[in-house]
Amino acid sequence: MRIGILNSGGDCPGLNAVIHGVVGAAHQLGWEVIGFRDGFEGLLPPGDFRVLKPSDTIGILKLGGTILGSTNKGHFAAKIGVGDVAEVPKEIIDRAKKTIDQMEIRALIIVGGDGSLTTGLQLFKAGWPIVGVPKTIDNDLSATAMSFGFDSAVTTVVDGLDRLNTTAESHKRIMVLEVMGRHAGWIALWGGIAGGANVILLPEIPFSFEKVADFIKQRDAQGYHSSLVVVAEGAKMPDGELVTIDKNTSGEVRLGGIGEQISARLEELTGKEARSCTLGHLQRGGAPTALDRILGMRFGVKAVKLAEEGAFGRMVSYEAYHVDSVPIEEAVNKLRLVESDGEVVQAAKSVGICLGD
Ligand code: F6P
Repeated sequence: MRIGILNSGGDCPGLNAVIHGVVGAAHQLGWEVIGFRDGFEGLLPPGDFRVLKPSDTIGILKLGGTILGSTNKGHFAAKIGVGDVAEVPKEIIDRAKKTIDQMEIRALIIVGGDGSLTTGLQLFKAGWPIVGVPKTIDNDLSATAMSFGFDSAVTTVVDGLDRLNTTAESHKRIMVLEVMGRHAGWIALWGGIAGGANVILLPEIPFSFEKVADFIKQRDAQGYHSSLVVVAEGAKMPDGELVTIDKNTSGEVRLGGIGEQISARLEELTGKEARSCTLGHLQRGGAPTALDRILGMRFGVKAVKLAEEGAFGRMVSYEAYHVDSVPIEEAVNKLRLVESDGEVVQAAKSVGICLGD
């Protein structure tokens, strides 16, 4: 029995932990694992791959990135713009299928986010033996309570806020930290709470500059002369606009720049000095946290179990501390967003954090 694995989309701490789990579990069954390089691209003839033996995975659990490489562009893009679905060309699917057939790959494990799993679903519908594993630092995939990578990104935000806090206090400044998360506010919300932010601005909750400025002025009057503001890159300006850099090669908007705009406006409205900092890809790089290593490894093991059961077209999921699975169809094309009146948002408000509303 021979199975394949590929990582697709943006990288994410914990991808190597999944590979570690897959190779370990497959080895126990006497299966061979083929790792395809650079996402789906590695499937195109003549095939770009390596055989993954347990000895190849020694020490990778703690490594960031992915030993297989990944890409969020190329021939297999199934998402265009803000979430529109595109069909992967039949000619591309047929060419890639030749590799799968010639190599006698009996299951293909796709580790990816919404876009890559949408491709996976199309391949499954074309008759491929697909098993999905959810991957995203944004934690925005529906049908799973958590994906690996999220905890590592949050930990980086917390580290950033701890550092910004000391300089903010020294200079009695407002420090604005822009964080990733695309159209979901999970990284901002969790990172902001854990890092002691005073203001957290999310895509899911419209904010007003006046409310945030009043809150900061009040803090000042109470003797708290510095303030930490966390803003999600996908938060919308009060006029409802996203702040974008440009579009990437698959037509998707690249978010970025809202932190600068917020900092400038708050400086005007409060009369206090403000600076902005963008964490960017620091949130995606580096070693995974212990939680993401364990989650990634368990997801990998579960993916092999699904392959063993012939449960194709399913995605590994996580719910109430259990690793389970759901049909891929249920997981894609709908984002899991922060509930604007949910328990975590309410808890943040209860401890005096301003959400700008
Ligand atoms: O989806 C993960 C993510 O890091 C988002 O949070 C971010 O908006 C995007 O990818 C950045 O993508 P790229 O690496 O292509 O700039």
